[in-house]
Amino acid sequence: MTDVGRHPRIKSMTLSEVEDVAGYIGNFRVKVRKKARYVNENECTACAECVDICPVIMPDEYQMGFSSRKAIYIPFPQAIPSSYVINMEDCLGNNPIACGKCLEKCDKRCIDFDMQDEIIELNVGAIVVATGIDVYDPTELDEYGYTRFENVVTSLEFERLICAGGPTDGHFVRPSDGRTPKRIGFIQCIGSRAYKRGHPYCSNVCCMNTVKDSLLLKEHYPDTEITVFYIDIRAFGKGFEDLFNRSKKMGVRYLRGLPDHIIEDPDNGNLRLKVENTTAGRIEEFEFDMLVLSVGLEPRQDGEQLRHILSLSQTSDGFLAECHPKLMPVDAPTRGMFLAGCVEAPKDIKDSVTQASAAAARAGIILSANKIKLEAATAVVDKEKCTCCEVCVPVCPYGAITASRSEKIPAEVTEAMCAGCGTCAAECQFGAISIRHFDDEQYMAQIEAALEENPRDKAIVFACNWCSYAASDLAGTSRFQYPPNIRVIRTMCSGRVNEKFILHAFKLGAPVVLVSGCHFADCHYIDANRWTQRRMDRLWNRLERLGIRPERLQLEWMSAAEGQRFAQVMAEIEEMRAKVSRQEIKNTKEVLRKRESKKKRVTAALGSSA
Ligand code: FES
Repeated sequence: MTDVGRHPRIKSMTLSEVEDVAGYIGNFRVKVRKKARYVNENECTACAECVDICPVIMPDEYQMGFSSRKAIYIPFPQAIPSSYVINMEDCLGNNPIACGKCLEKCDKRCIDFDMQDEIIELNVGAIVVATGIDVYDPTELDEYGYTRFENVVTSLEFERLICAGGPTDGHFVRPSDGRTPKRIGFIQCIGSRAYKRGHPYCSNVCCMNTVKDSLLLKEHYPDTEITVFYIDIRAFGKGFEDLFNRSKKMGVRYLRGLPDHIIEDPDNGNLRLKVENTTAGRIEEFEFDMLVLSVGLEPRQDGEQLRHILSLSQTSDGFLAECHPKLMPVDAPTRGMFLAGCVEAPKDIKDSVTQASAAAARAGIILSANKIKLEAATAVVDKEKCTCCEVCVPVCPYGAITASRSEKIPAEVTEAMCAGCGTCAAECQFGAISIRHFDDEQYMAQIEAALEENPRDKAIVFACNWCSYAASDLAGTSRFQYPPNIRVIRTMCSGRVNEKFILHAFKLGAPVVLVSGCHFADCHYIDANRWTQRRMDRLWNRLERLGIRPERLQLEWMSAAEGQRFAQVMAEIEEMRAKVSRQEIKNTKEVLRKRESKKKRVTAALGSSA
């Protein structure tokens, strides 16, 4: 941290918040609010005279509330800049100045109660998002008594209690009476792998953190009795199994089973619990001096705001989604942006450093390049056909399109921002937008080729490149059988599937059409598949009005890993296809043919009246 602060080519802006990001890869314009710290950071020498005189005493957040701080303070020992900051919410007041003792005491006149927030505009070529993580708050797990029993602490609080720079200078004592605990229990998976309270995912770091803590305790206090209650210990990774075995050799007891609830002995503050030892198949009773809840990790509470500012997508568990989990694990879906650390998923220090190095290297490629390669498949606007209706503007997940109905300015695509999902082309009712290399004519030709012979025997499947198409590949390589009369048409995103493709397939005699894409929150193009859902809802209504059974148009979400499901869905589609009669197909063709000729007549009439 200190190295970063001193590095001549790194400008760190602490106490600052990103308010807006515009532009595109190689040319981002970032608006940052640098909040007032009320202390001139260039002048302050951290002499601490202001701290000594400050009358306000608040719990120290860095020490997890086990010690106190003043209203003017340095948040933690390695903080940069290493100068004081005044927390105005704690200060007795600056307008009017209610106390002002620090102001009088500071000889260098570093304190400025009139300091205002500054808005700073930056022009940057690439952005790395590394906003970190929150830890799960176990208060809702009432059975464990966190906040009710003083000697039940979280793993983060335990870290402070055992740290040499902690509130007790490394003397490990329990909060209720300052005694060194002799019997300690760790309860694993608090808030992780839980479906009702907490999160369903594994937080990745808690097992090894407990192993490390148990070793630390054994090294400093060899007589301590340590018991770890777990579901299973996940000690994968270089050297981790050795560490786990070492901790067992040093006498740490690992017991498979989680306690149901904890009781405190009011006389001595000790904690009692019963647990089912699922390995031995018996109930065991324990008494501890202290219990540590090994809390899981969760996405930052304020991450949602930043996600919107940066137009990034999120996975179903709330972490930011990478571009591709295997091939582009540090790239964000928005080009020029990269993810590092726990913002992408819970991970330990080693993995965070690895990912951060990769993100920095990826960003470096952009910064050192003279030219940026654009996506080959981007949206192109035919200005002659564009009616300036602005429909395409909000559907673009990247904000790459501008248009103005009031000023009659046709749609314009910033190509460097366009990722080529095709949602704009699918939403445009006037055929004014097409996607390079994936235009409407190409799709129509594919549909026609697929249905050229015996259309009644075929089912058309539009598959998104990133998920369902990959799932079809997986089904193939895994040798999951699916009916051979399925005709798969690849689209970059399900958002590209235009209503007219589907109606064209029905007009040519397709019994069933399936549109498939990524699960919500997994869409490779942020949230383009939400537009697919809306479009399908609209089309189902339209089909009903036309007298075509809406069930003949199916919509399915699946991931690249669901090869078996792909095969299953195809079998279901085939079942549906077989039930569509010749007469029904004939009627559909007739209805759509009539609709098309009516449309042509109306267009011709409008043309001649104009
Ligand atoms: Fe698969 Fe959008 S990328 S639905």
